[in-house]
Amino acid sequence: MAKLDSYVGHLQAGGLVIMPTETVYGLAGDSTNPDAIAQIYQTKGRPAINPLIIHCAEWGWVNEFAQLNERAEILAKKFMPGPVSLILPLRAGHKLAKNALAGLDSVCVRIPAHPLARQLIQQFGRPLAAPSANPSGQLSPTRPEHIQAFANAHNIPILDGGDAVFGLESTIIDTRTDPIQIARLGVISAEAMTQKTGLNIGIPTTHNQKPISPGQLLRHYAPHKPLRINCTNPGADEYYIGFGALECDFNLSPNANEFEMAKNIFHALWLADASPKPRIATAPIPPSDIGMAINDKLMRAVEK
Ligand code: TXA
Ligand code: MG
Repeated sequence: MAKLDSYVGHLQAGGLVIMPTETVYGLAGDSTNPDAIAQIYQTKGRPAINPLIIHCAEWGWVNEFAQLNERAEILAKKFMPGPVSLILPLRAGHKLAKNALAGLDSVCVRIPAHPLARQLIQQFGRPLAAPSANPSGQLSPTRPEHIQAFANAHNIPILDGGDAVFGLESTIIDTRTDPIQIARLGVISAEAMTQKTGLNIGIPTTHNQKPISPGQLLRHYAPHKPLRINCTNPGADEYYIGFGALECDFNLSPNANEFEMAKNIFHALWLADASPKPRIATAPIPPSDIGMAINDKLMRAVEK
């Protein structure tokens, strides 16, 4: 595929590419090149304490830099490629750039299911480090139009893969412990994981516990305008985001389908930012499996 060649060439030359995935768009660079990794941190304004997810084309690659265990193998078989990332201990002698790992002795690995992402990584031939393609702390991009300004400002090519089908970042699972633990909520819920694998899963990180993922410490997913969540009485100056049979400025899902709500939440916040209304309010999201993940993002987005 000639078009893909130019993106691969750009990565080989140490450049960055905005890569589509089924969760959110990523800002991808060569995971073994410290200069490319430094560029990712600089472009995003990302704190150095926050490590990057390492994206592979196949599970067979993971063994090169991480120590596998049975729990991870079971999860990989059921959920990879797909919207999950696994934390594993690093393997001695790995070739990953140190600055991608924030000084930890573990690594977070993901195999995206988006066909263009897989082709890009496969053709590049090495894992790609890729955080979400947004300035640190801001909304994650789920559609090409969300990243155009960021890409132009930094002169980074976008590999257009259309709208992300899931629209929330991958569920991160720490496989180093038994039971395994969820380090970041996403569309693959604890229930779905237990059901498909029979594995025991620890309770998701609570707010009074030190998070497993350093990124969970930081304010995140924030729109530019003030945001009010769990709101049932929006003001006239608030762009109201709701779902189901509710009068609102943007309906996440008229049928209250939680997958559709997840797919649309970042887009709704993006539209709210672009609207003439100076404030944003979101309706209460029921704490179903995926609803919990959406609520987690919204809570982190509220101005502190
Ligand atoms: O869906 C996704 O995961 C997207 C797409 C682009 O793949 N990527 C993404 O990356 O959300 P980012 O950088 O926005 O979030 C990565 C999270 C951060 O919270 C970071 O702290 C955590 O992963 N993380 C990375 N390596 C880790 C490790 N070794 N241990 C614990 N957490 C880790
Ligand atoms: Mg992010």
